[in-house]
Amino acid sequence: MNFLFARAPSIRIAPTATAHRSISHSVSVSKALPFYLNTLRSAEQNDGKVLRMLMFGKPGAGKGTLSARLVKKYDILSLSTGDLLRQHIAERTEIGRQAEEIVAQGSLLPDDVMLKVVASKLESLNNRHWILDGFPRTLGQGKLLDAHLQSQNAPLSLVVNLDVADNVILSRISDRWVHLPSGRVYNMSYNRPKVDGFDDETGEPLTRRPDDNPEIFSRRLKQFYDSTSPLLAYYASPVNKLARLVTLQGETSDEIWPQLDAVVRRSFPGIRERVSSISQRRYSLSDPFAMEQEKRAIKRGAASDGPNPSKFLN
Ligand code: AP5
Ligand code: MG
Repeated sequence: MNFLFARAPSIRIAPTATAHRSISHSVSVSKALPFYLNTLRSAEQNDGKVLRMLMFGKPGAGKGTLSARLVKKYDILSLSTGDLLRQHIAERTEIGRQAEEIVAQGSLLPDDVMLKVVASKLESLNNRHWILDGFPRTLGQGKLLDAHLQSQNAPLSLVVNLDVADNVILSRISDRWVHLPSGRVYNMSYNRPKVDGFDDETGEPLTRRPDDNPEIFSRRLKQFYDSTSPLLAYYASPVNKLARLVTLQGETSDEIWPQLDAVVRRSFPGIRERVSSISQRRYSLSDPFAMEQEKRAIKRGAASDGPNPSKFLN
């Protein structure tokens, strides 16, 4: 099955020169992805149980935040379709031009477009532990994903449903700031950046998402109930023989994170924790900055200030 890719709009704040640099940077990085991924260690070699996980939940439930925590702690890759669309939009690709209005209005892109967006990335996840955040989001996307994974003989192994009350989410969204190139998420009351308005890792400016306002948010929530929540019944049904469906409830990450961490550790004991110097970076296929750093480190053969990443990754 052949699919394809993309990015999003920024709003508010920031020295545009910096934002520009990091975005154009990402084009060359995405071209270099296959090289990078070819150097990665096969998850199958180390442990028969491979994490192939969906992070499922309402808009603002914490999918991006919790995926980033897992990816920071463990040897896992993540892929967020929302981040990818925001990148396409920022880069003014064909998909980006198509997506801009739809995303800003809180609607969903058509399934066939989304398949183009994720296809090549899905290929890149082969033989790795991975998390999909924001895909699939319709029953049609779910079935297409299943067919694709079946053709790879690599079925889903875990579906995590983050169950957070609507009123809790709305207040979070109004406090959210994002680092567009990487998708890193901050919240002014929950996890503030070290310097207000700037990303902790790159120092680049943070932005607000154009779909983070009460009116659009209520549309996104409606979309979730109309189109996305039926997927839960699909994953709970006998059709889905292999993936475990786990629902986690809580209002704060102090409640949800330990539950999620325990599920992953118990179900996939072979997943390795990252060594400390590497753990500072986020391993996301929608984080071109981190991927480029990693590729350079591998080319250099060794990192001067820590373990050799190529050893770690092979
Ligand atoms: P996407 O970017 O995926 O948006 P979403 O699903 O609406 O989810 P969010 O990213 O808003 O929330 P999140 O669950 O990641 O929460 P976060 O961790 O940021 O998609 C955007 C758009 O793209 C869609 O509307 C659609 O148009 C399009 N699209 C994407 N995928 C598509 C697909 N497959 N098909 C069709 N169209 C698609 O957390 C939210 C806030 O809460 C943050 O401020 C965070 O700091 C805070 N927070 C998180 N966890 C906690 C906690 N435990 N306690 C306190 N605060 C917390
Ligand atoms: Mg998100």
